[in-house]
Amino acid sequence: MGAKYPNLRFRRLRQFPSIRNMIAETKLLKTDLIYPLFVREDINSIQEISTMPGLYHYPLDTITDEVKSVADLGIPAIILFGIPKHKDEKASYAYASEGIVQKAVRSIKEELGNKILVATDVCLCQYMSHGHCGIVENGIILNDPTLELLAKTALSHAEAGADIVAPSDMMDGRVRAIRKKLDENKKQDTIILSYAAKYASNFYGPFRGAAFSSPQFGDRSSYQMDYRNSDEAIREVALDIKEGADIIMVKPALSYLDVIYRVKTQFQYPTAAYNVSGEYGMVKAAAAQGLIDEKKIVLEILNSIKRAGADLILTYFAKDVAKWLD
Ligand code: PBG
Repeated sequence: MGAKYPNLRFRRLRQFPSIRNMIAETKLLKTDLIYPLFVREDINSIQEISTMPGLYHYPLDTITDEVKSVADLGIPAIILFGIPKHKDEKASYAYASEGIVQKAVRSIKEELGNKILVATDVCLCQYMSHGHCGIVENGIILNDPTLELLAKTALSHAEAGADIVAPSDMMDGRVRAIRKKLDENKKQDTIILSYAAKYASNFYGPFRGAAFSSPQFGDRSSYQMDYRNSDEAIREVALDIKEGADIIMVKPALSYLDVIYRVKTQFQYPTAAYNVSGEYGMVKAAAAQGLIDEKKIVLEILNSIKRAGADLILTYFAKDVAKWLD
């Protein structure tokens, strides 16, 4: 038998869905997912995000209910992005105790306690009038003076009750600065999820529309990575692990599966991948035109990201996927 149909050996294991499922090497679970949410200070009702169909801006008094519905779907974590009313040259509202993220985290934690993990994006770009992730002087983004502001921001989130802080700025040395600040202020338990290998990517367009965080001049290529490089990702990740990151992230995900694979293989560290706004937008646009089957494509994409080595996936599809996987 084997001699006449030598390949039957492989086909036998594919013939029934139940066998395929039992031996599937990758198993996407809703407990792998982190759902990004936007809380916005200058609105009074929930508004659809024009650049991200199917996603919404939430005013403060609605965010906790939304987080509760995410928790009820069995998604273990959210990551919160703040859209402040006021911007300035030193991102004052990024680290104000009455900032929009700090208020939202307090409200979520008061209401939901440990029902869901709350991560916060730690960055300054949404809070800076010029839209860059650091302090700007004479058109240059300054690394070291920015570190103190990032550390203050992370601490203010932790003090509000965030379980995880996620620096996305890509300044050098920020994980060390944040870890030190947290430890000095009795926040040793706060987890750092660092956007360790974050590329200067064109896939962030819809997010910047949603967060009003486009740089007003230049781009982010002096601090985010060149998409032609992957050795550099290894160096960036090594540095963040050394500085104290608990979970490291590769971002974006889909065009960077090789980077996810290399990072996971090399460090065997808890690894997250961010299925970013442009990846979401391409699927939504193609699905709206009837070119692809949204559900099937999303499951294939997320399984691929997991197969590449991601333990955790940040995705705007999390709520849909949680329902599909039930
Ligand atoms: C802030 C930040 C960005 C994203 C997450 N945090 C935008 C950027 O770096 O310009 C992008 C997320 C997405 O595109 O879904 N620095």
